[in-house]
Amino acid sequence: MVYRSDNRLLTWSVVLTLFSLVSAIRSSPFDFPARAELHSEPSLVSQAPGTNAVSGLEWPDFREAPAFRNGRQCAFVNRTENELDHICDRNSVHIAMTLDVKYLRGSMAAVFSILKHTGCPENVIFHFFAADRDEQLRSLIFSTFPFLRFKVYHFNEALVNRRISPSVRPALEHPLNYARSYLADILEPCIQRVIYLDSDLIVVDDIVKLWGTKLGPHAIGAPEYCHTNMTKYFTDAFWSNRTLSRVFDGKKPCYFNTGVMVMDMMKWRTENYRAVIEGWMAVQNRTRIYDLGSLPPFLLVFGGSVEPIDHRWNQHGLGGDNLEGKCRPLHPGPVSLLHWSGKGKPWIRIDQKKTCPVDSLWAPYDLLAPSALSYQ
Ligand SMILES: *[C@@H]1O[C@H](CO)[C@@H](O)[C@H](O)[C@H]1NC(C)=O
Ligand SMILES: *[C@@H]1O[C@H](CO)[C@@H](O)[C@H](O)[C@H]1NC(C)=O
Ligand SMILES: *[C@@H]1O[C@H](CO)[C@@H](O)[C@H](O)[C@H]1NC(C)=O
Ligand SMILES: *[C@@H]1O[C@H](CO)[C@@H](O)[C@H](O)[C@H]1NC(C)=O
Repeated sequence: MVYRSDNRLLTWSVVLTLFSLVSAIRSSPFDFPARAELHSEPSLVSQAPGTNAVSGLEWPDFREAPAFRNGRQCAFVNRTENELDHICDRNSVHIAMTLDVKYLRGSMAAVFSILKHTGCPENVIFHFFAADRDEQLRSLIFSTFPFLRFKVYHFNEALVNRRISPSVRPALEHPLNYARSYLADILEPCIQRVIYLDSDLIVVDDIVKLWGTKLGPHAIGAPEYCHTNMTKYFTDAFWSNRTLSRVFDGKKPCYFNTGVMVMDMMKWRTENYRAVIEGWMAVQNRTRIYDLGSLPPFLLVFGGSVEPIDHRWNQHGLGGDNLEGKCRPLHPGPVSLLHWSGKGKPWIRIDQKKTCPVDSLWAPYDLLAPSALSYQ
């Protein structure tokens, strides 16, 4: 038994290492390997005993999550054979997340936590964006959550690859990070609102409360942090160019984290915010105006016009900073969502036996099969 679980852990770390390598290559500013090249690598991860080979995607076994059923208070959602009937049902709650092979264990925990804490789990529809291996990921989600209502979309990385400039942490440049800017283009036009969530978080409250947020005139809602000095998010080249920096004139922009957002898809479509974001990415390509990845364009477009959401919905920074991933305590106050933003991720720290105190809050949502768990 011990041997078996060691073996799994080994496989797990080999997989992680390989994928870090691939991402590192990918995030090189000079040559992005084409998708086809990546695919043609004979076998990125080899089949090893104890791994779950769902249609060729070798991955540690995720345990099957229990079925979660609606409470009596829940609004009726029409579930006919026709997918559009329930996707377009006005009582459905839409959540968009990316499915990145490196963050899969985090995504599974996030989904599990949402289902566990909502009173109406059958009304929640997950929209997953994958850049690669969509079919295998679909099977993996299905085998882990047989009752989940979800859809996997292929996110064409080529769409953003050529727009991404290098940033301070290579992981921030991953094209999937930019999927959140394209939701309004990819999701069904009948979807009027979506909650975007990162994969390194867990929700410990009913997501329906977040869903019900009133956005007023704003296109997005998110917890804001107004004590943060915005100066550091942009370079001197930005602040000294009036043509650029006047974007903030007459506004009181506050920092917000793009890992948890309630987004009004109708406004995104009419205002074409995707194009505005791309415009800023093009500026960045000519003159370096910021150092982080996908966040600064959101600050440029929405800073000063974000509907503030209670901080309980994004207890962020639990992964430490972008460079070291140090342990951080919870912020004071009530908590509805815990977010391991920053470099440290709980599943990696658990595997490396270097956990931080807050990681014990993530562990109960880890769906990796018990035999592979190192902390048990
Ligand atoms: C559910 O959808 C079907 C097909 O669109 C429709 O015929 C039926 O009336 C709907 N039921 C309810 C209760 O909305
Ligand atoms: C920047 O723009 C140039 C010229 O349009 C283009 O060739 C290059 O791929 C872009 N680079 C990045 C990182 O966006
Ligand atoms: C923000 O930081 C910059 C330098 O980093 C400083 O010059 C400026 O005064 C600060 N602004 C506020 C409001 O603290
Ligand atoms: C300021 O930014 C604008 C827009 O990118 C650019 O056209 C202009 O050349 C910049 N001005 C200077 C002085 O760099």
